Amino acid sequence: KIIVLDFGSQYNQLITRRIREFGVYSELLSHKISAAEIKAMNPKGIVFSGGPNSVYDESAFEIDPEIFELGIPILGICYGMQLMAHNLPGGKVEGADNKEYGKAVIAVNDDDSIMFQDLPKEQTVWMSHGDLVTAVPEGFTVSATSQNCPISAMSNKEKNFYGLQFHTEVNNTEYGNDILKHFTFDVCDAKANWSMDDFIEMQIKNIREKVGDKKVLLGLSGGVDSSVVGVLLQRAIGDQLTSIFVDHGLLRKGEAEQVMESLGGKFGLNIIKVDAKERFLSKLAGVADPERKRKIIGNEFIEVFDDEATKLNGIEFLAQGTLYTDIIESGTDTAQTIKSHHNVGGLPEDLQFELIEPLNTLFKDEVRELGERLGMPHELVWRQPFPGPGLGIRVLGEITEEKLQIVRDSDYILREEIAKHGLDKDIWQYFTVLPGIRSVGVMGDGRTYDYTIGIRAVTSIDGMTADFAKIPWDVLQEISVRIVNEVAHINRVVYDITSKPPATVEWE
Ligand code: XMP
Repeated sequence: KIIVLDFGSQYNQLITRRIREFGVYSELLSHKISAAEIKAMNPKGIVFSGGPNSVYDESAFEIDPEIFELGIPILGICYGMQLMAHNLPGGKVEGADNKEYGKAVIAVNDDDSIMFQDLPKEQTVWMSHGDLVTAVPEGFTVSATSQNCPISAMSNKEKNFYGLQFHTEVNNTEYGNDILKHFTFDVCDAKANWSMDDFIEMQIKNIREKVGDKKVLLGLSGGVDSSVVGVLLQRAIGDQLTSIFVDHGLLRKGEAEQVMESLGGKFGLNIIKVDAKERFLSKLAGVADPERKRKIIGNEFIEVFDDEATKLNGIEFLAQGTLYTDIIESGTDTAQTIKSHHNVGGLPEDLQFELIEPLNTLFKDEVRELGERLGMPHELVWRQPFPGPGLGIRVLGEITEEKLQIVRDSDYILREEIAKHGLDKDIWQYFTVLPGIRSVGVMGDGRTYDYTIGIRAVTSIDGMTADFAKIPWDVLQEISVRIVNEVAHINRVVYDITSKPPATVEWE
């Protein structure tokens, strides 16, 4: 495997993902890891990711310098390259006169460079940096140059250390994938032998070892992630798994019934359904702040589990469908908190269970592939993602039963129309939100003063970035007409045309 050390760039998990797509197992790990720990993992290569810091910042992320002595190939990308130059004798990093952000053309000036093998001598790359390497460390040569960045790439072939100032992991770098492939296969000599089936076997083995003959509780949310965890755990430990499906009153129309039928029925999971609607809504009453709502919902979830678990006796583990993106966006050792996703952010300190999170190294589309390999039906696996806090974050601000009903009904219409027009395969996630504003309208001969519904529909691969979906006008029109006619208290429908970034997918 190849490990990627995290120095805080929002997109560094893309590196991990690209390498996995080559069929080589890769993991993103904290930069705090020691050389000894790395040695024990015996990786074929190490990537230092990008990051927002300058190596001179007091808060700059450091590494264990022994890592350079392990004899393992290292690729430093952006901040990672600067870190190499900063840590190895002779290297120098300085602030650039102008920050460089965007496309640049590099000229490869090393004829037998492994990293640029068989690639054009001139290529477009994506730069995003404030500092520059101004002197390469001893034993290194400059292998590529650009106008603003004389040392765009450096290499030490003897030690197999490589540095790239530009980002290979983003699509704007023309040959980014090829360069990363050269590192993976030609420098590190990794073998393309990792697949989802291996992942399943590895996870089943890990889960069995960790759990032994103890019991596990799973919080089924109705979404893809916890459903996949449920089926995976069922396969690994069978009856030792008890699932609790909390109906928090924030689910979409028909969702609770569907979960019980498919997971409880076909897959035979032992599910306890808890009707906790009143509990959640009373805790949420009067709360308008999105982060507080998330925390309340997250905490309440755990408390409901706790109550059920006490009844059940002898449960030691709690399984969750936490994904890679949840962890990254809730803040790893380096990343900023964008939103605290309930399944990560809301855990109380005195949690009585040990956590099992078998998906926490996977991206959404990888989870879907996993589900299919586990024999789960296509509709279930390809169901659009649904956030743990559910409609609680789609009713903006204070939540009331009436507002929930509006979102539920409008969302149902949207889903029906999208399916009817065969758009559900192309759109990654689509839902309605209730911003809580009211505006003036006219119906019949009368003035109305009522709520607005927002439609959000995005295309995405993993939720990290997203584009608004280009739903045809006539379909939007049909949706709008139906929502206004069929849902009480709606007199206006708007369509969200922002991408992520700068917006997020959900409105809260
Ligand atoms: P954002 O809004 O962060 O959404 O751009 C990215 C993806 O994550 C989902 N999401 C959540 N999932 N708990 C979850 O389990 C949460 O608190 C949460 N917030 C957002 C969102 O639906 C989208 O798929």
